[in-house]
Amino acid sequence: MVCESNNKSYLESHNLKIIGQSTLKGKVKISGAKNSALVLLAASILTDEKIILDNVPQLTDIEKMGSILESLGVKLQTKDHQLTIDSTNISNKELPFELVNGLRASFFCIGGLLARFGEATIPLPGGCNIGKRPINEHIRGLKALGAKIIIEKDIVKAKLVEKRNRLHGANIRLNCPSVGATETLLMAASLAEGRTVIENAAREPEIQDLCNMLNKMGAKIYDAGRKKIIIDGVQKLVGCSHKVIPDRIEAGTFLIAAAATSSSITVSPVIPNHLEAVLNKLEESGSQITKKGNSISIKGNKIEAVDIKTAPFPGFPTDLQAPFMALMTIAKGRSKISETIFENRMNHVELLNEMGSSITVKNNVAYITGVNKLRGMKLVGSDLRSSAALIIAALISNEISFIYGLEHLDRGYESIEMKLSMLGAQVTREIDIKKTKKSMHESSNLNKEDVSIASAA
Ligand code: UD1
Repeated sequence: MVCESNNKSYLESHNLKIIGQSTLKGKVKISGAKNSALVLLAASILTDEKIILDNVPQLTDIEKMGSILESLGVKLQTKDHQLTIDSTNISNKELPFELVNGLRASFFCIGGLLARFGEATIPLPGGCNIGKRPINEHIRGLKALGAKIIIEKDIVKAKLVEKRNRLHGANIRLNCPSVGATETLLMAASLAEGRTVIENAAREPEIQDLCNMLNKMGAKIYDAGRKKIIIDGVQKLVGCSHKVIPDRIEAGTFLIAAAATSSSITVSPVIPNHLEAVLNKLEESGSQITKKGNSISIKGNKIEAVDIKTAPFPGFPTDLQAPFMALMTIAKGRSKISETIFENRMNHVELLNEMGSSITVKNNVAYITGVNKLRGMKLVGSDLRSSAALIIAALISNEISFIYGLEHLDRGYESIEMKLSMLGAQVTREIDIKKTKKSMHESSNLNKEDVSIASAA
């Protein structure tokens, strides 16, 4: 039986075959953070000098963002995990729809283009499998900085108000601490005239990473990581070298997988403070955690049910809600998981229940009664993090599972099957050449609606 959730179509030619019940052991190398790398790539537009980014993860989302920048005239050079970005000759300020292709992070380009060139035309990133994902806070903030913005036929057209050649500083209070809006406004305000104050700003580590790089480029940003960020605009930003922070969500996923399989592993490099809320919940549920320098070790044990509620940083990250729910399916007792950030982020529940878990959902709260085991089966992931949850569930199960929809997983987890195999899991990527050819043909015939639902988080 194929168990799909609400996605319309998926890549049938690739799957992960997972033989469950292995114990994981050893050390896993954590890649650079996808969400940092994406916004840092966009920030490189702000200067006409070279940016050298190290520790860039090799992911399809990063490739897409690279293609978007190239379409603007940016020159990119890739060497292993290092990217050299040269935005000297940006000739185009309009992002093509076919490249934006459901990548929400493409919208980040608006801040850089507007601040450096005074104009930007960007297709709306649209909703996605985890919710509507509006951009009203980005737009409201940019307008406060002096941009004139119109949205016509799903295209956002932004330019400076007449007679001005720079954005100007403003006091902006976000209605919700949106990560994306905080990042867009930070980039735009860095080159604006005068002081900008962003209140109720998001405090995620990726925002601090962006501020660190912008400051290396000559920006004057104070209090990154606090709720109120102050930016004194400068006339020009310069090139720099920067190393992307480790991916806390990838690290958290491996730690949760270890807890779910009663395993002992070490994740490194990580910045342990970035995972505090997750580590607390893992300890509360029975795992032993040891932090040492830039590594975290976990020793899985019995699994007790614990409740979680997602929240902006430093709260429990919404991106680890699905993986943690997979762990709770086999916990002793009843747990409650509340999703407070996105309205449609429980796609994994139906699939986990097909595998034998006992979960009911009401108003974005999942009530989970722990069971003894899960069944292996053929599954189709429908967004990035719910696909990670399926992998954890497949590792728990005492049978074989086949996970499809890897186009989601490959957006955010670099070489996941290799990393899991090195830890001792029995995971192989199976590729059906005949179906690969067929899906290449079909993808050239995709319509606008099909592509815009493709991406989430
Ligand atoms: C980023 C991350 C994503 C993560 C999310 C929350 C990237 C590329 N993605 O997404 O992995 O799950 O943060 O930590 O960095 N909202 C509005 N109006 C807006 C913007 C947001 O109402 O203009 C709402 C959203 O609908 C959502 C909430 O704010 O309910 C949080 O969204 P936001 O923090 O903006 O998430 P993203 O930046 O899209």
